[in-house]
Amino acid sequence: MGLELILYAKTFLFLYYLLKVMQIGPYTLKNNLIVAPMAGVTDRPFRQLCKSMGAGMAVSEMVSCNSLLWGSEKTKRRANHEGEVDPISVQIAGADPVMMAQAALYNVEQGAQIIDINMGCPAKKICNTMAGSALLRDEKLVGRILDSVVSAVDVPVTLKIRTGWDRDNKNALVIARIAENSGIEALAIHGRTRACAYNGKAEYETIAAVKNHVEIPIIANGDINTPEEAKKVLESTKADAVMIGRAAQGRPWIFREISYYLSTGSHLPLPEVNEIQHVLTNHLYDLYDFYGEYSGVRIARKHISWYTKGLVGSAPFRHAMNQLKSSDEQLSAVNKFFGNLSCHGERLTYIGSEGLAA
Ligand SMILES: Cc1cc2nc3c(=O)[nH]c(=O)nc-3n(C[C@H](O)[C@H](O)[C@H](O)COP(=O)(O)O)c2cc1C
Repeated sequence: MGLELILYAKTFLFLYYLLKVMQIGPYTLKNNLIVAPMAGVTDRPFRQLCKSMGAGMAVSEMVSCNSLLWGSEKTKRRANHEGEVDPISVQIAGADPVMMAQAALYNVEQGAQIIDINMGCPAKKICNTMAGSALLRDEKLVGRILDSVVSAVDVPVTLKIRTGWDRDNKNALVIARIAENSGIEALAIHGRTRACAYNGKAEYETIAAVKNHVEIPIIANGDINTPEEAKKVLESTKADAVMIGRAAQGRPWIFREISYYLSTGSHLPLPEVNEIQHVLTNHLYDLYDFYGEYSGVRIARKHISWYTKGLVGSAPFRHAMNQLKSSDEQLSAVNKFFGNLSCHGERLTYIGSEGLAA
């Protein structure tokens, strides 16, 4: 009996860490799987798609804090959340506390329900000034920006950082404490320093150390590509959620795969060809609708490449597809590709899985 109780308690604790729902201010997410903000990728169509395929939240592409840009088509599009499922999280970037507060207010007026501050992007110049992860070097300024944004809006404010400036200056814990004192409601940490850019492997020890020392929810990010990796990172860091970026490109169903694995310990089978054909063509219609025919077709190319990467016959298809200039041609090429793919089996067939060549 005693042994049984211990086993039950252990299983309960295990599931608690893996399946914790995530709370951000008044918003209870449906799970602890979050789509990372990615400029040029996490537009409204992609966010909606990821949410419909199992993500608990999706952070928008960053919106500049420079108000001169707010009238531009690009920024207006980024601030368009029509039909988007709650909670709507919008990322802002910049280094001036007053401008950041104004940007936060502007986005709340446009429908943002959560404001996320970007201190994780290594791009050299954002908003004509040093911003993104460059800010991690100036802890006082970080505090001023966070205080200014938190006091400007009455929605939850979250923060995204890297582990520090470089390997000798990992100040994630200092920044986390500043964030907590400023009233930040959740902190996402990408397990690399700014100097690492995207090189090497992300590390999770710093994320675990931060989680151990602060009370605010922590979101672990970096190189989480499989359900097993998601589980491992949740267990080793005790983070409240994981954030997934590149692994969701062309594979928005990764969220349901992870969710299923965390709750059952086993894997979903690969998706059916028919289903992914349907998902991709609907994604394309959304892109044409959102960006218009000309830009929609061009933006769709990278998504089609991601969806089909590694699938049997995809190399010549991708090459030909990149030359197509109209939505009709693009859709018919995609449908033909998936039609051919279905001859290899009901489910997606990747190169190597059956000794097949690209
Ligand atoms: C194309 C691309 C664009 C990105 N844009 C942003 C951004 O606008 N804001 C941000 O905070 N991080 C940005 N990132 C970083 C991601 O949010 C994430 O931290 C990083 O990709 C590591 O996670 P992953 O290994 O799951 O991709 C971007 C990453 C990529 C690949």
